[in-house]
Amino acid sequence: MQRRHLIQTAGLTALALSMSLAGAQDNSKFKIGLILPMTGQQASTGRQIEAAARLYMAQNGDTVAGRKIELIVKDDVATPDVTKRLAQELIVNDKVNVIAGFGVTPAALAAAPLATQSKTPQVVMAAATSSITEASPYIVRSSFTLPQVSVAMGDWAPKNGVKTVVTLVADYGPGNDAEKFFSERFQLNGGKVIEKLRVPLRNPDFAPFLQKVRDAKPDALFVFVPSGAGAAVMKQFLERGMDKAGIKMIATGDVTDDDQLNDMGDGALGVVTSHHYSAAHPSPANKKFVEAFQKANPKMRPNFMAVGGYDGMRVIYEALKATKGQGGGDALLAAMKGQIFESPRGPVYIDAQTRDIVQDVYLRKVEKKDGQLYNVEFDVIKGVKDPGKK
Ligand code: PHB
Repeated sequence: MQRRHLIQTAGLTALALSMSLAGAQDNSKFKIGLILPMTGQQASTGRQIEAAARLYMAQNGDTVAGRKIELIVKDDVATPDVTKRLAQELIVNDKVNVIAGFGVTPAALAAAPLATQSKTPQVVMAAATSSITEASPYIVRSSFTLPQVSVAMGDWAPKNGVKTVVTLVADYGPGNDAEKFFSERFQLNGGKVIEKLRVPLRNPDFAPFLQKVRDAKPDALFVFVPSGAGAAVMKQFLERGMDKAGIKMIATGDVTDDDQLNDMGDGALGVVTSHHYSAAHPSPANKKFVEAFQKANPKMRPNFMAVGGYDGMRVIYEALKATKGQGGGDALLAAMKGQIFESPRGPVYIDAQTRDIVQDVYLRKVEKKDGQLYNVEFDVIKGVKDPGKK
């Protein structure tokens, strides 16, 4: 009896010891689960964010407050069911300290309940529907919101000869936000929205929509499509001779995405967009960022997704430092709120109330510089909060 008891006790002690050793080992690591669309229609977003996250780690070291940072990248193909499964596995099996990434709105929303249940900070680096941050108190956003950038265009266009508009947006969260916030502001400024068109998110054929626009003959077509889809809209817009028919294109900067802009051809010259980041942003911090990014990724130009990823890593790193490497979800979250810093895009902060990023929004025009197409900034609205929040 006694012997058996002794052996059992020894066994339990060994198990407890090995568990606590494993725990200690695990604790020395700080794991970031990066869920991104690495394949499929949204793959450029995944490619850009992963490259930027790795650049941030190369520049800032992979040990923070005594914890070794481990980046675990998972491909969700921008499919919310997959996002949810991956988030669950990362939280439960891999015991990640933070989940991050989220290339599209449905993906960010699918992970939100898991972040709440497990008290895991969720850093949204891409998705941009206003309401996302309300889906979980554990969400912090380093990207932008569509209302933030669309309102700027609603102010600019009517002051610059655009009196009538047709809107054309991808038919889901961010597109609906862009349509609503651009239209409301444009109309408030005396403009007239003749028609509101919505195209499907998956494999859209823009031709029938552009025909409608031609028939309606507005001064301008306002466009939002997600990063990666802009080149297709631009191509069909030009092929149909819309510009020659006297219809201007105005858009959010998602359309003249730096990832694709240089391949759009000279037809894109002169297109005015509003957005929070351009690779041509003329600050020393951005020049350094673009140079380092292109050195590490010779065939790529960083776009706004890359900057969302880079700044999201900054938010995580600084929160880990501020909490002295402890890594608890609530403490990390508290340390993410209110961070103020100089991003490659310009000065930003994480609003402690809304957990959304507050930033400058720029008006830009596509111009040629050194033989390449860029979004060249010509005006700025400072410190824009998300207008979508009540
Ligand atoms: C989104 O799904 O929230 C989204 C994706 C790409 C963008 C903007 C918003 O460029």
